[in-house]
Amino acid sequence: MSPSPVTVAVTGAAGQIGYSLLFRIASGAMLGPDTPVALSLLEITPALGAAEGVAMELDDCAFPLLHSISISDDATTAFAGASVALLVGSRPRTKGMERGDLLAANGAIFTTQGRALAESAADDLKVLVVGNPANTNALIAMSNAAGVPRERFTAMTRLDHNRALAQLASRTQRPVTDIRHMTIWGNHSATQYPDLFRAEVGGTVATELVDDQAWLEGEFIPTVQKRGAAIIEARGSSSAASAASAAIDHVHDWVHGTPDGDWVSMAVPSDGSYGVPEGLISSFPVTCADGSYSIVGGLELDEFSRARIDASVAELVEERDAVAGLGLLG
Ligand code: NAD
Ligand code: LMR
Repeated sequence: MSPSPVTVAVTGAAGQIGYSLLFRIASGAMLGPDTPVALSLLEITPALGAAEGVAMELDDCAFPLLHSISISDDATTAFAGASVALLVGSRPRTKGMERGDLLAANGAIFTTQGRALAESAADDLKVLVVGNPANTNALIAMSNAAGVPRERFTAMTRLDHNRALAQLASRTQRPVTDIRHMTIWGNHSATQYPDLFRAEVGGTVATELVDDQAWLEGEFIPTVQKRGAAIIEARGSSSAASAASAAIDHVHDWVHGTPDGDWVSMAVPSDGSYGVPEGLISSFPVTCADGSYSIVGGLELDEFSRARIDASVAELVEERDAVAGLGLLG
């Protein structure tokens, strides 16, 4: 007998990211080749027709693992029975816009969706927030989802993690598979800290192999921090296929576990680790096993890294205070 389908809710299903993400989920890339998927799509009313079109294309792929597709403009209906919720739907940043401008524009979406998740999602719910500002939107959803364990709410820094892997692989002329222990700390924003002091390439600490502080500070860190803006500048719209791919990676590893001896970056509610105030959704190195994640403990932080982590965490505190001031925290 084939296993029961897992309900995966995706918001913003008719958007750019949705258009890459849904096909990969339906193909089995996220939950694996043995897990049938019931897709539940949430869109705003004017985009329901476009979501229908995406559903028609999903049908036309005849994915063996795709059990069913439902579409709604009501969050409680769309989240009913969801074990995985990918909160993508929100307005993306456009040229010249700072992420802070998105706080008020998008924050309100996540109060409603947090409440709806608490009302109708499955007990084993896992939430990934992709819509920006992702960390603070996850905080808003978490604080409005009474009764859902806080650790179920995460935000996406896996795209930043993957960008950092690609930059380091290119600089060292080594395959990404040679790299371990990459970490993104803090916020998914231009203050994030991609950390090479703990990363290893083929077993050698990355900063020893590269040994070029000018490249680290002048190229690597700003390239990763500002990659989102660079894509917007080049493409005229924000990253989509790479964001969808990172979302697949994030949930895949959360569900199936991280490889032995390595970790990934996830923005998760802080338990106070590394001096990050408890409850802030900040990016950490995490390992995953048996469907749960744990923040990697006991890493020694050098002064350079400490200052950068503190700067990004300070921005998260500002964002939290701003949305609290807007009355968005439950
Ligand atoms: P898009 O504009 O193409 O699509 C967004 C979709 O969300 C639209 O179809 C819109 O109708 C829908 N939507 C808006 N409000 C909604 C609501 N309340 N409920 C359900 N759906 C709603 O945008 P996109 O390019 O797909 O990007 C989506 C979000 O992801 C943006 O906020 C973007 O900045 C963010 N993003 C995050 C990362 C990351 O690494 N965390 C990377 C790339 C993009
Ligand atoms: C990205 O990192 O590509 C997205 O978060 C888009 C953005 O606004 O930077």
